[in-house]
Amino acid sequence: MFGARCLLRALRSCSSAPCPRHKPTAKLSVRDALGAQNASGELVKVQAFPFKYKERHPLEYLRQYPHLRCRTNVLGSILRVRSEATAAIHSFFKDSGFVHIHTPVITSNDCEGAGELFQVEPSSKIKVPEENFFNVPVFLTVSGQLHLEVMSGAFTQVFTFGPTFRAENSQSRRHLAEFYMVEAEISFLESLQDLMQVMEGLFKTTTMTVLSNCPEDVELCHKFIAPGQKDRLEHMLKNNFLIISYTEAVEILKQASQNFTFTPEWGADLHTEHEKYLVKHCGDIPVFVINYPLALKPFYMRDNEDSPQHTVAAVDLLVPGVGELFGGSLREERYHFLEQQLARSGLTEAYQWYLDLRRFGSVPHGGFGMGFERYLQCILGIDNIKDVIPFPRFTHSCLL
Ligand code: 4AD
Ligand code: MG
Repeated sequence: MFGARCLLRALRSCSSAPCPRHKPTAKLSVRDALGAQNASGELVKVQAFPFKYKERHPLEYLRQYPHLRCRTNVLGSILRVRSEATAAIHSFFKDSGFVHIHTPVITSNDCEGAGELFQVEPSSKIKVPEENFFNVPVFLTVSGQLHLEVMSGAFTQVFTFGPTFRAENSQSRRHLAEFYMVEAEISFLESLQDLMQVMEGLFKTTTMTVLSNCPEDVELCHKFIAPGQKDRLEHMLKNNFLIISYTEAVEILKQASQNFTFTPEWGADLHTEHEKYLVKHCGDIPVFVINYPLALKPFYMRDNEDSPQHTVAAVDLLVPGVGELFGGSLREERYHFLEQQLARSGLTEAYQWYLDLRRFGSVPHGGFGMGFERYLQCILGIDNIKDVIPFPRFTHSCLL
């Protein structure tokens, strides 16, 4: 039996393996449940550890133990990759001259206008009846975009990377109620081409950095969880991402021999099954879908002024295995167009401050958001989003 101090020292030196920067100096393995003594020296029974030595447990099984699963090799590797990817994303933006902004978690706006908001209120003990703590109803943020747009009027290129919340009633393998989003906003940006270049650059540079800083951790996932993923990722990295318009995408889907649950038609949203088909159709290379119907997208997107099929300068990036990874657009910088859009959405009063950004000097600009957990799923080949975040929150589940 180890002395407590010796055990602690051994655990400390094992816990950060195998990233090359943290070379392990000792290895510790516990084969059987340990016996333990209480203060009076009696032996007490210790509950069996739920993971068996040298056995590969399915990720679903590990998910039942959010307080213990980080001690397994596989979760250890995934979470170290997560940490490296976080640092790589910050480096990408720093090296590209972006200013990092802490956008608020509590906000009074619904950026996406989809109504998927968690409302924030003091607990009943503190609450004064009939009174709002903030005077107005407030929510957990669904996106930092509008706050970034404020900042892009001062700093030109800005980004934020933080927790984001959506009350989507979804148990899917790519939705969480709390996830991390990387968002960028760029002033003096006039074309979707320029925006897509930054998106592709972020994906490829971050991934190359992770691959070179964490080779063993990435390999563990590619070898044991997603065989074939190494080649699929290389294929994504060495090819230029493709670009198709929403209208072309609908045509491709209409001509598909596959039967979809949701019949593809112009004006309807693209569903996961459509996104997956489009990526396959494009040879498993990530594909940008641009210029969506105006009626499908939020008020802030730039009107393409086309007809008869009225579209906005929106862009989604679809990737193999995941579907939508990025969502972005050019923003409507023209005062009168924006005013009309707000009026159409019944938001004129609430968004006077947003109109001010145009009223007091505005430039063409655009930005995007990338779901960080979906990014990790995509590079590691992890099927379920709940396995790439330390403590997943989703409908009917908030453990710990
Ligand atoms: O497409 P979305 O809704 O875009 C926005 O929120 C923009 N305001 C971002 C911007 O332009 N600054 O979300 C962006 C990305 C999606 O493409 C997806 O990867 C991820 O966020 N995402 C989710 N990830 C996990 N769980 C959810 N419930 C998600 N909802 C969106
Ligand atoms: Mg989207």
